[in-house]
Amino acid sequence: MIQLSVHPDPEAAAMAAADRIAAGVAEAQSARGAAHVSLAGGTTPRRAYELLPARLVDAAHVDWWFGDERCVPPDDPESNYRLVAESLLADTAIPPERVHRVHGEDPPPGAASAYAEELALAVPAGEGGVPVLDVAVLGLGEDGHTASLFPGDPALEVTDALVVPVVAVKPPPNRITLTLPVLRSAREVIILATGAGKRDAVSRVLAGPDPATPASLLADADVTLVVDGEASP
Ligand code: 6PG
Repeated sequence: MIQLSVHPDPEAAAMAAADRIAAGVAEAQSARGAAHVSLAGGTTPRRAYELLPARLVDAAHVDWWFGDERCVPPDDPESNYRLVAESLLADTAIPPERVHRVHGEDPPPGAASAYAEELALAVPAGEGGVPVLDVAVLGLGEDGHTASLFPGDPALEVTDALVVPVVAVKPPPNRITLTLPVLRSAREVIILATGAGKRDAVSRVLAGPDPATPASLLADADVTLVVDGEASP
């Protein structure tokens, strides 16, 4: 089920996303003594990541994962790890060793396998044998992509792998992404989208599952679409 949560501006949307992530973390820690959160890349979530540490009751015991990563070194301006290092990790309450980065500097197939192995070892699996993230934080592209799952990409059909390398239309092209089985298995999905450029994609996500809008394929999960007024249909 996809629920829309509209906020007056990007700052309010970032605060709402940070609040929801923190609530999901607290629920997981209370229920299972651990919390596993995958983070979105791109530019939108930076402010939410800056606001997040102060909202965490037990900031030291959260494992942070990535929904996707660009195949670049961790200090590259395009690196999603660098985005998290500059925002979430800027707060010393977050232990850097709890941030499980994708080794974007390595050859993509090997980096994808290594990340999948680390994820499977650390995150308890559900019935289907798929690791169950407590919270999956995602962004939304203007074409409806999420993580690095783009319209028409064969990665959308993958059911027998947790992580795959892709060649994307959004630069940088070489990326590594969690697959739909993992994202769909998350206990909660939070999609954060702001700005008028995302309004059409938001509308398509709300219209129901459509492979042309990959983020809409998460409709069976517990999804909250956090948007500002400009991105709201
Ligand atoms: C990435 C992201 C991607 C992003 C959307 C939105 O690595 O590019 O994971 O899915 O969330 O493209 O990007 P913006 O937040 O920059 O609009």
